[in-house]
Amino acid sequence: MIRSIAVVLALVLALAGCGGDTTTDPGDGAVGGDGEELFKRTVLADNAGCVTCHSLTAGRVLIGPSLADIGAVAADRIPGTVARDYLEQSIVDPDAYVVEGFRAGLMPDDWVEGGLSTAEVAALVDYMLTLGAG
Ligand code: HEC
Repeated sequence: MIRSIAVVLALVLALAGCGGDTTTDPGDGAVGGDGEELFKRTVLADNAGCVTCHSLTAGRVLIGPSLADIGAVAADRIPGTVARDYLEQSIVDPDAYVVEGFRAGLMPDDWVEGGLSTAEVAALVDYMLTLGAG
């Protein structure tokens, strides 16, 4: 009886150990998935961070458009493209759609090359979906 409890305990500990591995850095500089924290960094993936060009105050233009309402606006940008896909594209291929009144070529397009992981892009998209969407 005591022996089987020990075996079960050992198994549980081994499983817990494996679970811990999922938080390990995959090796590309990825850090967790807090999109707001990533968005607000002043330097991100070898570029100026998102906040250096985008304000979260409605109508306040820095270098790029304010993203105060982007969670709501994103759905109407490209007919047939849902908000999530539009936002992902605006990070990985910013010039695919250029917001009226702004110039192409200003927003960096090498976030992934700079080390931003797929999970981090998704976290940024998740965060932006919350902006002005309620
Ligand atoms: C050097 C300035 C700069 C940085 C840094 C920057 N952007 Fe941009 N961004 C722009 C400009 C300029 C535009 C408008 C032109 C365009 O649509 O490509 C834009 C457009 C966008 C749009 C489309 C907005 C809309 O109203 O449709 C999104 C979303 C966006 N950026 C997200 C981000 C995120 C997320 C980051 C950080 C990972 C970031 N940007 C970093 C300059 C920047």
